[in-house]
Amino acid sequence: MARVALVTGGTRGIGAAISTKLKAEGYEVAASFAGNEDAAATFTAETGIQTFKWNVADYDASTAGIAAVEAALGPIDVVVANAGITRDAPFHKMTPEQWHEVIDTNLTGVFNTVHPVWPGMRERKFGRVIVISSINGQKGQFAQVNYAATKAGDLGIVKSLAQEGARAGITANAICPGYIATEMVMAIPEEIRNKIVAGIPAGRLGEPEEIARCVAFLASDDAGFMNGSTISANGAQFFV
Ligand SMILES: NC(=O)c1ccc[n+]([C@@H]2O[C@H](COP(=O)([O-])OP(=O)(O)OC[C@H]3O[C@@H](n4cnc5c(N)ncnc54)[C@H](OP(=O)(O)O)[C@@H]3O)[C@@H](O)[C@H]2O)c1
Repeated sequence: MARVALVTGGTRGIGAAISTKLKAEGYEVAASFAGNEDAAATFTAETGIQTFKWNVADYDASTAGIAAVEAALGPIDVVVANAGITRDAPFHKMTPEQWHEVIDTNLTGVFNTVHPVWPGMRERKFGRVIVISSINGQKGQFAQVNYAATKAGDLGIVKSLAQEGARAGITANAICPGYIATEMVMAIPEEIRNKIVAGIPAGRLGEPEEIARCVAFLASDDAGFMNGSTISANGAQFFV
């Protein structure tokens, strides 16, 4: 029977590439989204992948959404916590709202996504937890105190979950993408974006599919002994 995979924020950008890749690998895939109904409808029309709407920052909504996914597709074997946002501002201008919105979505959102599926994975003695962190969680970034804090937090989450899940056949790993050509990055003013690209030894932005292939490996049986790891995929921009 096909394994079931949930990709949060799986309808656009990196998440859409992950959903599509996992489907191509034979998984039953559910892609969640926050509110962009048009993008979700287009995504389903193009891929045949079912979409589900909830806010990952809301625990009760996440629990209900995940229950709906499991009712439709069966127990979730692979969870990809990918949904994320930026609310950039230099620290002296960052508002408490910008701080909380990013913490609630990117960090608490990972708790809200993994916590409801964890008991089932423990019972079935199999699970794959994959969290999409960021290069900026590894190195920090100007105007991203909030974002970098959440993405560094992701690494603590997977290292801890790895230790808790190892005996139950569950692995937890993170991927730290560098700058990837999605709407999130294309929204950065062109002048700044050109400076970013100039700082990437590969001389280009990454493609969402390059992150999706890392996810497919971590989800596979071949990656069973990788647990608590961080994969950096950044075109040689930064080494840990
Ligand atoms: N792009 C990069 O260069 C880059 C680099 C490093 C790490 N990352 C990380 O990779 C992940 C994906 O980034 P991306 O560039 O592909 O983003 P994106 O193109 O902006 O897509 C974001 C996706 O997340 C969903 N989402 C946002 N907030 C949500 C919420 N509160 N609840 C549920 N879903 C929510 C969006 O749903 P709607 O369509 O409904 O808005 C959308 O499907 C993020 O965690 C990001 O931090 C990105």
